[in-house]
Amino acid sequence: MKDIEFTVKEIKEIASGIFSITLFSDEELPPMRCGQFLHMEVKDDALPLRRPFCLYKFDEHSVTLIVAVVGKGTKKICAMKSGEKVRAIIPIGNGFMPAPEHKKIALIGGGVGCAPLFALKQCYPDKEYKAFLGFSSKDNIVLYEDFKKEYDVVLSTDDGSAGEKGYVTDAFKRHLSEFMPDIILTCGSENMLKAVAKVSKELSVPAYMSGENRMACGVGACLVCTCAVKQKDGSVRNMRACVDGPVFNIADLEL
Ligand SMILES: Cc1cc2nc3c(=O)[nH]c(=O)nc-3n(C[C@H](O)[C@H](O)[C@H](O)COP(=O)(O)OP(=O)(O)OC[C@H]3O[C@@H](n4cnc5c(N)ncnc54)[C@H](O)[C@@H]3O)c2cc1C
Ligand code: FES
Repeated sequence: MKDIEFTVKEIKEIASGIFSITLFSDEELPPMRCGQFLHMEVKDDALPLRRPFCLYKFDEHSVTLIVAVVGKGTKKICAMKSGEKVRAIIPIGNGFMPAPEHKKIALIGGGVGCAPLFALKQCYPDKEYKAFLGFSSKDNIVLYEDFKKEYDVVLSTDDGSAGEKGYVTDAFKRHLSEFMPDIILTCGSENMLKAVAKVSKELSVPAYMSGENRMACGVGACLVCTCAVKQKDGSVRNMRACVDGPVFNIADLEL
């Protein structure tokens, strides 16, 4: 991981309160993996803690984030202008690491939680994918057009205003006869993750989730982000979501 000064290349609102932010670096970026994140400064002396965001798209010199405005920090970050400089530590965490035997991968994303799943194909091009993207209603749909260019996508909305009606996990279950995955990779709301944990257990298909624990240092030093993770021998250990995660086997977490 490296602390890098970026230039904001492009910033645009893609849905109400949700921004796509592309950062550019003159120096070559360290190698990145889908599911890792960066820890970005807020250009405000009253907000000294950096904020973590998943890597949506990335290459040698740039990274794109999808940021939802939820509080003071994200409001300030999304008000940045192109050309502005901002520092971020990148990349952090383990990311998604499907094993060689995981040939068929189901991506299940809820809302902005779809973002960290997008670069899977870039990192693991030889797998077979199906992406299930769920949103509350059609006005909240983001990233769908991008996903459609790369993946076979099933869109769902809770209220049925676009795509299949109902929860994304129900859409996933409806398509099992045509796509039974070896592994599920997921990110989204706590309720959605609980539903994914349940279906993963029912099907005996492993699921790995990217969590959004509160963080402070973001680099493994402060222990603010610790969560209880079940170990192979059945014991439970406190692990740091920032550097030991943010991706964990869903069956090892208490959701
Ligand atoms: C590894 C990781 C990756 C993330 N990736 C993304 C991403 O790609 N896009 C994105 O929009 N957000 C992402 N988040 C969440 C994002 O970091 C927080 O929304 C942000 O730090 C909030 O800052 P704030 O100052 O605006 O809000 P605050 O003023 O700190 O909080 C405002 C509200 O948001 C809630 N909140 C704050 N942080 C979190 C959190 N981590 N999880 C759940 N609720 C929170 C608070 O409880 C409060 O209700 C990620 C978090 C983690 C840990
Ligand atoms: S945020 Fe400090 S140890 Fe994880």
